[in-house]
Amino acid sequence: MAAMVTGERRGSARTAVVWDALGPILEGGARHVVDIGGGTGGFAVRIAEGGHRVTVVEPSPDALAALGRRAREAGVDVVGHQGDVSDLPALVGADSADVVLCHGVLEVVEPADALARIREVLRPGGTLSLLVANRHAAVVARAMAGHFHQAHELIDDAAPAARGRGPAARRYTADELRDLLATAGFDVRATHAVRVFADLVPGSVLDLEPGSTAALTDLERAVAERPEFLPLATQLHVLAG
Ligand SMILES: C[S@@+](CC[C@H](N)C(=O)[O-])C[C@H]1O[C@@H](n2cnc3c(N)ncnc32)[C@H](O)[C@@H]1O
Repeated sequence: MAAMVTGERRGSARTAVVWDALGPILEGGARHVVDIGGGTGGFAVRIAEGGHRVTVVEPSPDALAALGRRAREAGVDVVGHQGDVSDLPALVGADSADVVLCHGVLEVVEPADALARIREVLRPGGTLSLLVANRHAAVVARAMAGHFHQAHELIDDAAPAARGRGPAARRYTADELRDLLATAGFDVRATHAVRVFADLVPGSVLDLEPGSTAALTDLERAVAERPEFLPLATQLHVLAG
């Protein structure tokens, strides 16, 4: 087996908590999984490999092409629709999904509208897996990079003005997320701190210290459900229904 490079090592530590949370939901009889903004299929293909029917709704044709290649290489079918979160009910049908993944998307869409569309396609009793950027951790990351003014602006600003290329990303606190979900008719079942340490560890530690990736992953798992670590997590993961 080829040796894991630093990015892969860090990647597995970054996503372990989300996979741990999704495992029992998928194994509990999820037939149809919809991944909104599924990108190149990092989650979708692995879920399809578990025997689930997976539909990705994604606006980027390049990402959809990469998803298709990844699915073929893995020998699984993933249905890809080019579309926006607002197209979700028309593309996949009302009450059609047992699980909806919305990972890394609420940062770039109008959140209340997006959650309302997701509510429409999720069947009663289904589960939303929501992964978003955490504003508290972003403030700390900006300050550590020496961007003190940006850090200051970000403290209370969920949707800062765009800087440089591309639109600005929204970021959320756990309380804001809970309020948005309640307004859209969701009950929060669990909240997880994701990437509390994984983004801070130097790559050299993961490269040189035997067993360090496994130990880092264990550490991420140990704090994932402890509320005191939520403000430090790069991402917040919520299961809601
Ligand atoms: C940060 S990536 C996350 C990809 C994937 N969900 C993951 O976790 O690896 C954000 C994705 O959202 C997609 N996206 C952007 N605007 C969108 C919209 N209005 N509706 C649905 N997806 C959108 C992008 O094309 C991109 O693939």
